[in-house]
Amino acid sequence: MAQTHSEPGTSRRSFLRNVGLTGGAGAMFATMGALGLAPTAQAAQREQSFRPLSAGDFTLTGRAAAKVVIVGGGIAGLTTAYELGKAGYDCTVLEARDRTGGRNFTVRGGDTTTDLHGTRQTARFADGHYMNAGPARIPQWMVTLDYCRELGVPLEVFTNVNADAYLYNESAGMTRPERYRTAKADVYGYVSELLAKATNKGALDGELTADDKERLVDFLEDWGELGDKLTYTGGERRGYTTVPAAAGTPGVLLGDVPTASEVLASGVGRYFSFEFGFDQAMLMFQPVGGMDQIPKALTRAVGARRVRTGAVVSRITDTGHGVSVTYTQGGRTKVVEADYCVAALPPNILAKVPHNLGSGVQSALEAITPSSAAKIGLEYKSRWWELDHGIYGGITETDQDVTHIWHPSYGYQGERGVLIGYYNYGDDADSYAELTPQGREKRAVAAGVKIYGEKYRTELASSFSHHWRQTPHLEAAWHNTPGGPDDVRYKPLNEPTGRVWFAGDWLSHTDAWQHGAFTSARKAVTALHARVLSS
Ligand code: ALA
Repeated sequence: MAQTHSEPGTSRRSFLRNVGLTGGAGAMFATMGALGLAPTAQAAQREQSFRPLSAGDFTLTGRAAAKVVIVGGGIAGLTTAYELGKAGYDCTVLEARDRTGGRNFTVRGGDTTTDLHGTRQTARFADGHYMNAGPARIPQWMVTLDYCRELGVPLEVFTNVNADAYLYNESAGMTRPERYRTAKADVYGYVSELLAKATNKGALDGELTADDKERLVDFLEDWGELGDKLTYTGGERRGYTTVPAAAGTPGVLLGDVPTASEVLASGVGRYFSFEFGFDQAMLMFQPVGGMDQIPKALTRAVGARRVRTGAVVSRITDTGHGVSVTYTQGGRTKVVEADYCVAALPPNILAKVPHNLGSGVQSALEAITPSSAAKIGLEYKSRWWELDHGIYGGITETDQDVTHIWHPSYGYQGERGVLIGYYNYGDDADSYAELTPQGREKRAVAAGVKIYGEKYRTELASSFSHHWRQTPHLEAAWHNTPGGPDDVRYKPLNEPTGRVWFAGDWLSHTDAWQHGAFTSARKAVTALHARVLSS
């Protein structure tokens, strides 16, 4: 998370992520007469290799359904059980926490957590209000949306970028926030002016033809809202102090257009590449009513009787002819015997579970390191950010230790609302984790007051903070996989030789996204099923 705005893994992420899996499963399905559903063109674009299993895979080949124990009831584990269930596998999911979903965690009034240090919090959000402590936004290209469709989870737009939200760089001398739209107009304006002038002075003569230069300058004039002599002097894109209205009220433009030097010094330009990100570009979506509608729907589809919560796995043993998983539940030690296992715990947790899967597995798990991230939900008695600031959803970006402040993308113009007062990572997240919940609230509110004014404090009703590194049974927000998931050192996790497969976003090129968990689970399901059908 080196950049303020980037999501984990971007630098090593390849745009070749949709290249299909190699291996026998696809070919085998084809020669078996395309058992299972043919993917739509749209689904194929998202993930070329996946073919859902079907009951016919067993009945048409005269086999009995195999028994699979799935360790971990997060998105990867639930998806594994869900997809295997389509072919009739007998699945059991063991989940250590008291609910499924893993890092997909929506906090509502009455929800209680206890962190690794014993700090206990109970959320007091009013009915209908929530915070998504983990995943909170879904790009359109991710298979997460396909699962929402298939599972009947309704969606609404998540506003990831809002021209009316703020930017605030105190370290650059800003004493008050600036609207995104204003900052963008100034940055684009001056960059366009400088480039247009440099072009016309011949600075690019070695690169461009006369026609190219003319077209480039035409583009820059429009892109930067340039005026006479290709000069940027501000304009309506920056915004108004009095907005245009009825005849007689043409509007009053924002004054005080800064100089190019001031704009560069403000550092606001660094926020603008975010919205170009393949993972972060609008439109984005969220499930209506909270992100945990996804694991809830998956759990229902899998069948609650197949999911054991409060089940803390203490040993995984590949016996050669099956897999034996030992766990404790309610103080009692129990064992699940199965034909196969899919281990879908985070790697940092899995590395602590005794097993006989080999030193290659262990060293691969230990090479992957956990990362910190945190959020605080600030519940307010009024939606003052809408009423006073005209901000409906979207994110305010800061150079403060709160990093991002999110305005809720639901409940507009209602009475109350829950802001995300910080969404931060690494050292910032860890430094808040050291405080009491009250201390976190105080520090986050002090940062917000600098940007939004006193209502950030006076309208506050309650807060709830969540820190993933300090969360039992997860202990990470996401993971750093040196070299990427296809590095040779992770071969024992990607191509197991025994009866245990591994799945999770951490074994994907989209770590820290549910898409990674879904697609990794599909990969494990495909490989496991191929093994079963060929045995
Ligand atoms: N996928 C996570 C996010 O969008 C990291 O913030």
